[in-house]
Parts: sequence; C-alpha cells; structure tokens
Amino acid sequence: MRVLKTIGELRDYRGGLKGSVGLVPTMGFLHEGHLSLVRRSIIECDHTVVSIFVNPTQFGPAEDFNNYPRDTERDLGLLESAGANAVFLPGVEEMYAPGADTLVLPGRIADRLEGAVRPGHFKGVATVVLKLFNLAQPHRAYFGQKDAQQVAVIRKMVADLNVPVEVVVMPTVREADGLAMSSRNSYLTTEERQAATVLYRSLRLAEDLIAAGERDPVIVRQRMIDLINTEPLASIDYVSVADASSLEELTFVAKPALISLAVRIGRTRLIDNIILS
Ligand code: PAF
Repeated sequence: MRVLKTIGELRDYRGGLKGSVGLVPTMGFLHEGHLSLVRRSIIECDHTVVSIFVNPTQFGPAEDFNNYPRDTERDLGLLESAGANAVFLPGVEEMYAPGADTLVLPGRIADRLEGAVRPGHFKGVATVVLKLFNLAQPHRAYFGQKDAQQVAVIRKMVADLNVPVEVVVMPTVREADGLAMSSRNSYLTTEERQAATVLYRSLRLAEDLIAAGERDPVIVRQRMIDLINTEPLASIDYVSVADASSLEELTFVAKPALISLAVRIGRTRLIDNIILS
C-alpha cells in the first residue's frame, strides 16, 4: 500500500494507474463504516485510494477540529489489511496552500438540517471533496448513508458542476444495539454510550409509526421528541421528516422520506437517519 503525503505524489501515482479508480474520502479514525466503503471500492474498482484528512474548513469555530480523534498508525494498519492500494495523507498546508481562498458554495440543499445548525459546514465539505475529486480523478467515490445530507450535497455538486464521477452510497453500519458507527462515538463515556442508543430507538419508533399507517409528520416528530426527552443526557438539535431528495420537510408522509436527527449526548453531537423507500 502506497502512502502519499503530497499532491505531487498523488498526481504521479494517479498518472501511472490503468483501469478504474475508487476514492474513499475520510477524516480517519476508521471504523467498520469506513471499511465497508473500502471493501466495496475494492470489489468494484481496479485501484482503491483512501484519503485521510481532517478538513478544517468544515468545522465551525466552536467545533471539535483540534480534538477530533486521530490515530494514523492504526488507520494505516486497517487499510493495509483491507487491501487498499494507496492512502492520501496530506497536511493542512498541502491541501490549502497559503492564500487559497476559493470555495465551493453549495445550493439551497445545504441550508437545512445540518447546514442550518452548522453554517458553512457544507461549503467546507464540498470544497475539500471537489479538490479530492480533482486530485484523485476517481471513476467512483464512496460515501456512507449516515451523512445523508452530505451525500445529497455531493450528488448535487457533481450534477451541477458536471464532475465525471459516480457517487456510490453504502448503508450505515451499526453497533449491535443500533448505534450508528461514528468516529465521534469515541468521545462518549460508558453512561453516554448507553444513552446514545436513543437516536436509533427514535428512528425505529418513527418507522413503526409510519408502517402502522401514521402519515402526519408532526405526530411522528413529536413521538420521536418525546422518546428522546426520556433520556436525561440527550438534548435535541433537530428531528426531521423530510423528502429524501429535496430535504424539504414533509406535510404528509410519502415515500421516499428521510427521517433524520441530530442529538447531543452530553457534549457529543451525534447524527443518524433512515430512509423509508
Ligand atoms: O464524511 C467525512 O468524513 C467528511 O465529511 C469528508 C467527506 C471526508 C470530507 O472531509
């Protein structure tokens, strides 16, 4: 497995590849969710490049950029065992040369949900993802469904800016009790880890209500909120029942619907979603 630290090294490596290339963009501290993307890329593509870069431009000033979990040695071991061909591991100054101030401005799809609570977040995501696409020139790029709005923003960017890449989305990988895998789960204390199951429990409640015929999103949201509020360590950022493509809140539950939520468990902010399709 090649470890590429500079843009020049990545360009040289990419220039020598024949056949299809899969890119798995990550911020490291890898878990099974990331590895499921890597494995899919290995099945579908001749070469799999994984990027590990904790991207400062997608973190707000009061967010956890400095504390974001990092363990490069462990990540490299996992990727080597999974069979990735190359890892792109740039520093911040390599990705953002001094004076670089051109950003990708996503459209309205980035204004709701996460975008409303984390202004500028998707501008940073879209910018770094487009840079990674330009550098690695992948045929396919792999993302997890857990970041549903990120997927929607990237798909829209790819369509609007005519980026020649196929976006492949893989299902959320969950712990045995339903908690969606996330690098940020490592922040949780034992008590918080237990409390964090309330996110998936509330999603399952919504799914059950809708399966039983409930079509009023106000009722679905309220039942989810009531359940989450039974957990003393939880505080809600948002609970949403939206159209899965536009991300606009529904007035009547029709499929496909994206049920999503962001909840703080103690000081850790977690997101999760399901799509009813
Ligand atoms: O999902 C992530 O880990 C990040 O948002 C991404 C896509 C690697 C961009 O920094």
